[in-house]
Amino acid sequence: MTTASDAVAGEDPQGTDGLGPTGRPLPDFGVPPVLASHGPARVIALCNQKGGVGKTTTTMNLGAALAEYGRRVLLVDFDPQGALSAGLGVRPGDDEPSLYQLLVDKQTDVRDVLRTTDVPGVDVLPTDIHLSAAEVHLVNEVAREMALARVLRPVLDDYDAVLIDCQPSLGLLAVNALTAAHGVLIPVECEYFALRGVALLQQTIEKVTDRLNFGLEIDGVLPTMYDPRTLHSREVVARLVDVFGDKVFHTVISRTVKFPDSSAASQPMTTYAPTHPGTQAYRQLARELVARGLVA
Ligand SMILES: Nc1ncnc2c1ncn2[C@@H]1O[C@H](COP(=O)(O)OP(=O)(O)OP(=O)(O)O)[C@@H](O)[C@H]1O
Ligand SMILES: [Mg+2]
Repeated sequence: MTTASDAVAGEDPQGTDGLGPTGRPLPDFGVPPVLASHGPARVIALCNQKGGVGKTTTTMNLGAALAEYGRRVLLVDFDPQGALSAGLGVRPGDDEPSLYQLLVDKQTDVRDVLRTTDVPGVDVLPTDIHLSAAEVHLVNEVAREMALARVLRPVLDDYDAVLIDCQPSLGLLAVNALTAAHGVLIPVECEYFALRGVALLQQTIEKVTDRLNFGLEIDGVLPTMYDPRTLHSREVVARLVDVFGDKVFHTVISRTVKFPDSSAASQPMTTYAPTHPGTQAYRQLARELVARGLVA
């Protein structure tokens, strides 16, 4: 059965007249060059305190697309709900260490927690609900904002990109992600009021940049759940370009039921629906990151 959202997905999400969906000419991002060696990684936090905007979906599918282009990718599940781990079919067992142990116990080795996935080139630092206790545990620690940066440091040279899937909150875990990151990727759902929360996120990013991580940059704003048939989707994207200018990616992610379908199947879109326009969009985003010099 074809649904309305599948019809949307079947359309060219990148617009007509040589203009992309963001109203700007769509550049040719080219094919990423083959890498002779790997690392050091750019660490990118996928952050938006609004829930359900596509952080986890983007982490998983951007990671899988970068890996298709030969990049070595580490995905960090930094949400106690563990949706990313589950989406990759990886769950730490009850007696196995997870990201929580790494954060609170300096003796645990990150390489003992890392897991390979069924996607070649993609590893994951899995999480379970124990991570929800980490904020309470960290609050009395010295350098409590630096815990994730400390955990990731030993493996940065093994990867080209480390993508951190944040929980929908601006608490201590989000601050840890922003402190560990070189850049922030902000997925924004193409809905009215979507921009309201982004101002608050920007303030948090500015605070972290001032106090903890001077080099932190906004790598880009990614419009998600885009529906080219609705005026308001187009208006939200136009407004994002007004506010963020070139920081808005040329790539937008359309709304399609294939994304929840692929999560339910515990697979990234690259294997679940390799030729789907939603998969192509994440491949384009991967090429755009490389073309912008954000990922090697
Ligand atoms: N482009 C899309 N089109 C349709 N559905 C999508 C799209 N992207 C994500 N979804 C679905 O929307 C839901 C929320 O997406 P996702 O879990 O990626 O958001 P999130 O920002 O990580 O949410 P949370 O803040 O709760 O962690 C999921 O069911 C996902 O499958
Ligand atoms: Mg999520």
